[in-house]
Amino acid sequence: MKYILLVAIPYVFVLGLAAISDVETPPIDSEQVGFRGTGMVQMTNPRIAAKLEDANQPPDEFGPVEPGGDLAKDIYENVQVLGDLTDDEFNHFMLGVTTWVSPEEGCGYCHNEENLASDEKYTKVVARRMMQMTRTINNEWSDHVGATGVNCYSCHRGNHVPEYVWTDENYHPEANKGFAASRNDQNLAVDVNGHTSLPYNAMADLLTSPDPQIRVQSNLALPTRQGGQSLQTTESTYSLMINMSEGLGVNCNYCHNSRAFGDWSQSSDKRVTAFHGINMVQELNATYLDPLASELPENRLGPNGDAPKAMCMTCHQGVNKPMYGWEALNDHPKALVAQ
Ligand code: HEC
Ligand code: HEC
Ligand code: HEC
Ligand code: HEC
Repeated sequence: MKYILLVAIPYVFVLGLAAISDVETPPIDSEQVGFRGTGMVQMTNPRIAAKLEDANQPPDEFGPVEPGGDLAKDIYENVQVLGDLTDDEFNHFMLGVTTWVSPEEGCGYCHNEENLASDEKYTKVVARRMMQMTRTINNEWSDHVGATGVNCYSCHRGNHVPEYVWTDENYHPEANKGFAASRNDQNLAVDVNGHTSLPYNAMADLLTSPDPQIRVQSNLALPTRQGGQSLQTTESTYSLMINMSEGLGVNCNYCHNSRAFGDWSQSSDKRVTAFHGINMVQELNATYLDPLASELPENRLGPNGDAPKAMCMTCHQGVNKPMYGWEALNDHPKALVAQ
């Protein structure tokens, strides 16, 4: 028994280490995606592909409805966004919304079922704003979402609150525990910074502010404040870039040639789509999600009292195109795109 233990302990230790770290075991596939050399090689791990595929299944589609019929605004009492849908389209969409956001609770998650026109539940007020936000994505951000578009399921996947959201981490509950007296918003390995020691609040600066300082590279020979940015700003950029890469399940060289990160002429066209994605997420956070803090109950807010916000992972969930390019606008097109 003693000998078995002696032999077993190192294995248990090694297995334990593998379990607590994010280390991916070899072999890893590699593919040349741009110029020859190591600057544009894409690495993928075939063993996580199946897990990602499970997490990225599109929802069942409802199919088309019969055209014609009275408009929702003429039939119902309190319809502020979806008034131009026909009654059939409207009810069809309510069914969709239910399966995308509250499949267990049904209509009652947002409605007082005795009085469907009432706005007494915060979930209904939030859902109305979400409908406006979804239309903004589909109408105004085709530079990012193309003709594929998004619906509530793109973020929610059957959950009340999407699984991948972030709140202001300036006051991260773990931040000032332990040996570090002041962490200065870094040196805490959490999901949002890819478990590095980089700043964990990069998204508060770079994915909400209308004028983010993501560009940090200088064209000058010596580091100066005029030519580039401070070390702190640079760390925030790297933290955001890691977060984006994890969100899409790609390496840096999916977008960049790593011999010249800043140079657009050597980057892939994905980087342009990503650029629009960054701007889109900033608008969603600043205009729609952050202001919803006043509607949400306290248990939905972050430690600093702000509302949960979106990032690349919210829709992408580890793949380069959400649900492998599933076309969300095939179903309920009228409800999801403003007239
Ligand atoms: C995730 C939240 C949510 C769920 C779940 C939901 N609804 Fe709604 N419902 C809304 C919102 C928001 C409105 C208002 C839309 C607007 O202002 O354009 C609305 C409006 C309505 C109205 C119009 C009431 C009136 O007179 O103004 C009816 C009818 C309705 N829903 C039926 C249903 C039914 C039936 C279900 C279940 C199959 C359902 N809803 C599930 C959010 C929801
Ligand atoms: C870009 C991602 C995104 C899309 C698309 C989206 N939501 Fe949300 N939703 C969120 C986030 C983030 C929250 C968390 C609360 C907040 O930040 O306001 C949320 C919260 C909610 C809540 C509150 C749930 C609760 O229990 O507190 C409801 C209801 C909701 N969404 C309905 C919808 C509906 C209906 C649609 C489609 C018309 C939709 N959402 C589309 C991101 C999204
Ligand atoms: C999905 C595409 C994408 C991925 C993956 C990505 N980036 Fe970026 N990166 C961008 C975009 C877009 C910008 C430009 C943002 C802007 O100008 O507002 C950028 C900017 C940068 C910059 C600043 C360049 C300058 O002008 O100063 C650096 C440095 C950088 N990325 C490094 C990285 C690193 C390191 C990784 C991997 C950990 C990475 N990026 C992954 C899209 C990406
Ligand atoms: C509201 C949902 C949503 C969010 C949030 C989102 N994306 Fe996307 N993204 C999409 C959709 C949908 C597509 C597919 C568009 C298509 O098929 O043309 C896409 C496509 C892309 C592509 C092109 C992929 C390819 O292989 O052609 C890149 C790159 C990308 N997104 C980067 C980002 C980055 C970076 C962020 C965060 C800053 C982000 N996205 C946030 C919905 C989203």
